Amino acid sequence: MDKYAVFGHPIKQSKSPQIHQHFAQLTEQVIEYTAIDPGLNNFVAEIKRFIKQGAKGCNVTMPFKEQAFEIADHVTERARLAGAVNTLTFNQDGSISADNTDGAGLVSDLKSNNAPLNKRILLIGAGGAARGVIKPLLDCHPESLVIVNRTFEKANQLAKMFEQYGNIASIPLERITSDMKFDLIINSTSTSLSNELPPIPDSVFAKHSFSYDMVYKGEATRFLSWAKQSGSTTCVDGLGMLVGQAAESYYVWRAIKPEQANVLSKLRLDLS
Ligand code: ATR
Repeated sequence: MDKYAVFGHPIKQSKSPQIHQHFAQLTEQVIEYTAIDPGLNNFVAEIKRFIKQGAKGCNVTMPFKEQAFEIADHVTERARLAGAVNTLTFNQDGSISADNTDGAGLVSDLKSNNAPLNKRILLIGAGGAARGVIKPLLDCHPESLVIVNRTFEKANQLAKMFEQYGNIASIPLERITSDMKFDLIINSTSTSLSNELPPIPDSVFAKHSFSYDMVYKGEATRFLSWAKQSGSTTCVDGLGMLVGQAAESYYVWRAIKPEQANVLSKLRLDLS
């Protein structure tokens, strides 16, 4: 049986084994998919051990996404631009291929929710999560993509890094004026994990705007509740992105794209 796993620290919370087993059933394949916590300092050694056991690939989550990048022999363009890796494939010749499917997962979920990807997008946050989704968002040809962040310099660096790929800009928080409206507002910060709000004014939400929180918590995040109060008509959490990135990884390994909507609704039911 082909072996896969997700590596992270901690890993108990991961939904990936559940999601990939759903995919295997849907595509009538049999795979083993486990969750491995290698401890903070043993990622590379544990990956090598996993390869020796005949494993075909793995997903990588916090805090190993940069280390995964470093051990790869071949890196896709989207992973290189993201500066991080969430999917490793162990090839027959002993080499390791690395990919990043997070951005594709986000865009696929936004598309299935009919998000206004061609309009004015505000991306809040400038950490690893933001960097991983910028190129896939620009590939949707938005009217504009504006990045804001608590630490402006990081937003500015990202905007410069990606300026060759589309209409992207950064703006300091204090320069957001009440006439700056956005149709799609994406929160990539970790604020929802600590039940905080990102530091943006509620004037950014255009009429009928669409808000997305990349965090999934099982209940509406504070950001999404606030977005709704501020006039956002569609508010969506990150569970679909999680399923989307997993489907894309499954495709990288198995060359077959599982149907996601079914898995997403099953997962919502299981988690409710
Ligand atoms: P990740 O890889 O998940 O993006 P990260 O690289 O640590 O994690 O980035 C976290 C993001 O959340 C950053 O944009 C961070 O802002 P700074 O760059 O200013 O640190 C943002 N963030 C975290 N806590 C925040 C808070 N309390 N208020 C505003 N922004 C916050």
